[in-house]
Amino acid sequence: MLNNPSTDWGLPLHSYLKSLVNKGEIDSQLSSILWAISVASIDVAEQIAHKPFSKNLNTHSDQPQTVNVSGDDVLPIDMIANQIFTSTLSDLEGVGAILSEEIDFSIFNPGDSNHYYVAFDPIDGSKVLDLATPVGSIFGIYRSKLPIVSTSENLPLPQGRDLVASIYVLYSMHTYFVFSIGNNRGIKVFANDVQDSILHPEHNPSLGDNSYKLIHANWRIKEYGDIISVNESNQHVWTDSSTQDFCQFFRSHPDRRYTSRFTGSLVADFHRNVIKGGVFAYPSIKSHPQGWLRLLYEAAPLAFMLESAGGLATTGDTDILDVPISDVHQRVPLCLGSPYEVEVYKKLFGEKL
Ligand code: F6P
Ligand code: MN
Repeated sequence: MLNNPSTDWGLPLHSYLKSLVNKGEIDSQLSSILWAISVASIDVAEQIAHKPFSKNLNTHSDQPQTVNVSGDDVLPIDMIANQIFTSTLSDLEGVGAILSEEIDFSIFNPGDSNHYYVAFDPIDGSKVLDLATPVGSIFGIYRSKLPIVSTSENLPLPQGRDLVASIYVLYSMHTYFVFSIGNNRGIKVFANDVQDSILHPEHNPSLGDNSYKLIHANWRIKEYGDIISVNESNQHVWTDSSTQDFCQFFRSHPDRRYTSRFTGSLVADFHRNVIKGGVFAYPSIKSHPQGWLRLLYEAAPLAFMLESAGGLATTGDTDILDVPISDVHQRVPLCLGSPYEVEVYKKLFGEKL
């Protein structure tokens, strides 16, 4: 049956990673990268949770804001998270290059055995962080087909199909560490604060133990969802009317009642749709005809995760993983989620071409 509780429920992440290495599903370098990011994410979760409020109830913006390479406001917490993840990854064996939303250069560690690029958005959803809305981090781990070189000018950028793993971390009442290693092996869902001592006394965790424990080893997305996540107030700036037709179609669906959910925090919306079934779309807008969300460290990692679990991700006419990547901060129009709803999007988009 779809999504039964995992027989290894409560297994610590490090034991699970070890078992993947033993079975030959990932190599030890990839396992170390996944592990290092998980440890750093617990640090980031603590930073997010324990920052004091400032005078204007604006939790994290009591220092001057800057603007990143894509023109987004950068809060101190964005830079703190960027620093935590960057310093964790920069000396790690296997990591040849680090590409981040918050840096306009790439960090290189060329070496014969450093085959992986790690691209990430350190905090996604920082616009709503001040409201205690859940936010996230997104990572794409790409295998380099060519030797990694040491300057940005001649960096051979990885492509969507070079992804070997992707991760999102959701910072909320619990912190979820969710990853995929592709190849139809499903989504691996871990959470902290899991009290597994009753079911698995042999793991012997202390209560409130902050490390990640297994919830689902092979989560599959539902074929149909009933949630539509679209910022419909953008209707007047969408570059074509297919998303409008899409929303209209589900408003009057003959078989099911659909509901609208859009938090302004991609990871929160994505996680909900992965667990409940549903679809998220952010089409091209007049100010950004190339789309809004970033391909290398937002859209492609999430698309990779969905593809491993029965979901789909498209621009409307091209699978997200097949969109050529030519710039680290490239944007892309995006629709992703349960296959039925994404297929409807593709059909309606196709009719407008
Ligand atoms: O990364 C960009 C982001 O903040 C996502 O987290 C979110 O889904 C989207 O932008 C929201 O954009 P808007 O405020 O335009 O709806
Ligand atoms: Mn983002």
